[in-house]
Amino acid sequence: MKKLTINGIQKEVASDGQTPLLWVIREELGMTGTKFGCGQGLCGACTVHVGGQAVRSCQTWLEDLDEGAEVTTIEGLHPTGEHPLQLAWIKHQVPQCGYCQSGQIMQAADLLANNPDPSDAEIVEAMNGNLCRCMTYESIRAAIKTAAKA
Ligand code: FES
Ligand code: FES
Repeated sequence: MKKLTINGIQKEVASDGQTPLLWVIREELGMTGTKFGCGQGLCGACTVHVGGQAVRSCQTWLEDLDEGAEVTTIEGLHPTGEHPLQLAWIKHQVPQCGYCQSGQIMQAADLLANNPDPSDAEIVEAMNGNLCRCMTYESIRAAIKTAAKA
């Protein structure tokens, strides 16, 4: 068993140490907001925060996490789903199929935590690894700028 702090709540998880964090979150804990896309660190759909930093949970092994590590998923970004990014996402009607969007928001939250007023170029650079097959990139950039002003 390993202790993790998931969205501020301490949990004990029993998955094997070589299990990707994505599987622990989705399969063991039943939290399906975080998505499986490529499983190879190439798409960003599985992005969560560990210790406040965006990571690809499909490439983060349980055994590599510290005991009690702080993990934040899309479900825990804001207690009522009203993080400035979430509100901006609604305002700009960003999601199309929606599949990539929790990863996009978690990546954007990391960006704004470290750079509260990013330029267009900084947004593109920070979000470059989060793919969207529905091509919502322009809306994502606009929503990040709206959230930055909030
Ligand atoms: S599912 Fe993790 S980066 Fe694609
Ligand atoms: S909204 Fe469909 S993949 Fe991004």
